[in-house]
Amino acid sequence: MAKDKKKTSKLDSVASLCKRRGFIFQTSEIYGGLNGFWDYGPMGSQLKKNIRDAWWQDIVVKNENVVGLDASIIMHPRVWEASGHIGGFSDPMVDCRECKKRFKADNLCEEQGQELIQDGKKFQLPEGIKCASCGSDDLTEPRSFDLMFKTFVGPVEDDSAVAYLRPETAQGIFAQFSNVLATSRQKLPFGIGQIGKAFRNEINPRNYTFRSREFEQMELEFFIKPGTDEEWHKYWVQKRLSWYESVGLPLSSLELDEHPKEKLAHYASACTDVAYAFPFGVQELEGIAARGNFDLSRHQEFSGKSMEYFDQETNERYIPHVVEPSAGVDRIALAILCEAYTEEWIPKGGEGEVIKVEDADLGKRAPEGYEARTVLKFVPKIAPVKVAVFPLLKNKPELVEKAREIFEELQEYWPCFWDVAGAIGRRYRRQDEIGTPFGVTIDFDTLEDNTVTIRYRDTMKQERISCDELLPFLMKKIR
Ligand code: GAP
Repeated sequence: MAKDKKKTSKLDSVASLCKRRGFIFQTSEIYGGLNGFWDYGPMGSQLKKNIRDAWWQDIVVKNENVVGLDASIIMHPRVWEASGHIGGFSDPMVDCRECKKRFKADNLCEEQGQELIQDGKKFQLPEGIKCASCGSDDLTEPRSFDLMFKTFVGPVEDDSAVAYLRPETAQGIFAQFSNVLATSRQKLPFGIGQIGKAFRNEINPRNYTFRSREFEQMELEFFIKPGTDEEWHKYWVQKRLSWYESVGLPLSSLELDEHPKEKLAHYASACTDVAYAFPFGVQELEGIAARGNFDLSRHQEFSGKSMEYFDQETNERYIPHVVEPSAGVDRIALAILCEAYTEEWIPKGGEGEVIKVEDADLGKRAPEGYEARTVLKFVPKIAPVKVAVFPLLKNKPELVEKAREIFEELQEYWPCFWDVAGAIGRRYRRQDEIGTPFGVTIDFDTLEDNTVTIRYRDTMKQERISCDELLPFLMKKIR
């Protein structure tokens, strides 16, 4: 076998491809970047759009009892008092007096097989906890570190002008509950869905985009009659699992993490995380929580405005309970990229078996007689580009003209890619790396018999298809 080029972890391989092919860049890279902030390039922005669209379609469009909302990022600061974020949305941190490093107290304890001691809002380190960097036991007591980004509204930067970048989209929904209820003519159970940016001044952004300081959430607040919490919680866990499968995360890659009752917030009756087996461990993509009527009650208390619902069937008046599936777009994008990322060794000349490269061998050079290909095996509806169109030769105007005609027709329906440069095999490889599921090649036979070659990304198989059948065929496959 040929010598190793270099041994890389799967996350490194994914990050390198994301940079090379325009999925994800470090923000303001030309100035050295900014920790915890990322930019999505041409492929990444379309990938995220497809994830958002798939969520919106499944949650808002396809459920007649769910409506959408687009609330502002900066809201009245009282919102965050009511929600408990002001004063309560902080992480206990410890500093090492020896090496000056700072750690999240709960992570530090967990890594050393212990649990952070909590007494109300006070935290204490258990005996024997040491600095994860230098091993010193000279650590400060845990101190709270506020996670909300602060700003000022208007020209004067005094206390009365303080506002916050929202740390979750959910509160925008709770604050508009009455307006949405009054204008959408919904009855319980009904939901309000929202997609948007959220900001948290995370102490320790890490694992590429997994824990960022600016990220996007897709949140549904599903309002229900008190007492039906358990059945609706179960319903949404199952529904969300099917959605993950539909966007290319098989059940075998997911785990459900049910929070034990004693760890739930006092108002919650259930919380289940959907977690994905990332290269750096099994980690949360989404939390699905039954939150009782805590949020609406708090807004009623702080705003003085009624959040009650009048149930015409029973003639009762009550504050609805809520089940909240809350997912992160960036984490789902990263999970989909990790799941789709595949390296293969394919026999030169096409004879023989394709070898799927194991994670431990990623980045290694292909053995003698094989060549390497990297492919993102996205499901078609999530792939940023659906179809690539190639005229076989760029210097034959009649081929280019026919190919252009096909390209422009397909572009009416999906993001497509036009590529005339280089040998056809190289053009296929470039599309494999961005995960384009279908390639369409226009050659001299096309001009004779009105057929094209369609090439499938995953199997690399090719077949001829009539130009007249191309659009309905792709329509079926991509849907
Ligand atoms: N309203 C409930 C809420 O915000 P959360 O568990 O704090 O709950 C929900 O956040 C989801 O938002 C997480 O499951 C995750 O996907 C995403 N998320 C939270 N913090 C994040 C961060 N720092 N970076 C990227 N995504 C994050």
